[in-house]
Amino acid sequence: MKKTLKILAYTVGTLALLLVLVLGYFHFKGIPNYKYDPPAEIVNLKVPRDSAHVARGRVIGAMQCVECHANAEGKMTGKPISDLPPMFGKIHSLNITQDKKYGIGNWTDGELYYFLRTGIHKDGRWSPPFMPKYSLLADDDIYSVIAWLRSDDPRLAPDIHEAAPNRFNLVVKILANTLFTAPPMPAKPILMPDTSQHVELGKYVANAVGDCYSCHSGDILKVDMLVPEKSFGFYGGGIPLRNPEGETVFSANLTMDKETGIGNWTEQDFIEAVRFGKNPRGGTLSRPMGPRPMLSDAEIKAIFAYLKTVPVIKNPIQRYRASVQ
Ligand code: HEC
Ligand code: HEC
Repeated sequence: MKKTLKILAYTVGTLALLLVLVLGYFHFKGIPNYKYDPPAEIVNLKVPRDSAHVARGRVIGAMQCVECHANAEGKMTGKPISDLPPMFGKIHSLNITQDKKYGIGNWTDGELYYFLRTGIHKDGRWSPPFMPKYSLLADDDIYSVIAWLRSDDPRLAPDIHEAAPNRFNLVVKILANTLFTAPPMPAKPILMPDTSQHVELGKYVANAVGDCYSCHSGDILKVDMLVPEKSFGFYGGGIPLRNPEGETVFSANLTMDKETGIGNWTEQDFIEAVRFGKNPRGGTLSRPMGPRPMLSDAEIKAIFAYLKTVPVIKNPIQRYRASVQ
């Protein structure tokens, strides 16, 4: 008996020591650096800056960049990201105004392109997953985002507000070295979707532009950013997010299950929920589900048509407000 206890004590002791060593390793290794290695055509990239590209970039920017980078006055100087589960600690976005020192005024089009695809800065620093990597956006849509970042949109005018660099916690450091590493550059050009193909368009708007699946899947740690369909509980919802008041709000089940998803919704219900944040059960949807007035009717209808092709998942979600169960 005594011997068994001793062996047990040694085993537990060794395991504890190993754990400390592993955690210590990730703590000191920190966020990994990568080789800044864009292909030649990206190094020399000059994106078209015509008004059509700027306008398209503004739409994508409004749905993506503004959500995370705009301060209370709407300027793109960076802000705390408040909707993440608490385990990731405090994280803030950075200044992406055109200021040459504090913003991104000195970045080349190629540097921006490479960063938006991979998260890798030109000095090899890497931004962990809280800055999304746009692996699925069409090349031309990335050009549009860059054209908009260079435009005369007042939200992007130079601003010297300087955010201190993020100090990422141990959970983020471990994830950045294991589950969520830098995605590769796309192997071949990504073309814009064929707008006459309703479902294809919906898939593109939902997965590539709207990034809807990354909140609406089943587990934030099992989201597959390269092949969204492989995400755990794809569109079945249930990820605990936070609203600006710090309360937990679970993402909704967007599959067509009639009881736990949106299988009973009309197309009009869906349009009003996505465009205006209107909850067909009454009241409004809670943040972080914000309204998306920048999406056209055709785009929202296409998302709805696409969701009808996604495998149905039965997953009851605890609603944020008891009154709208
Ligand atoms: C989900 C929130 C989120 C969204 C959406 C988002 N960002 Fe970010 N972004 C961040 C965070 C957080 C950082 C800081 C990362 C770090 O500390 O390395 C960041 C950093 C950056 C940087 C690096 C700035 C620097 O000085 O190092 C650029 C450039 C950038 N974002 C551009 C964009 C653009 C353009 C979009 C829209 C297409 C966008 N971001 C969308 C959260 C976001
Ligand atoms: C930042 C995370 C996030 C993103 C991105 C996001 N959603 Fe949501 N969504 C939520 C949350 C959380 C709820 C639940 C809100 C509530 O319960 O009031 C929700 C609710 C919804 C609902 C209501 C469903 C119901 O049963 O009430 C619809 C529809 C919806 N989202 C569609 C979308 C679409 C389409 C996109 C992409 C364009 C999207 N969402 C992107 C977090 C997100």
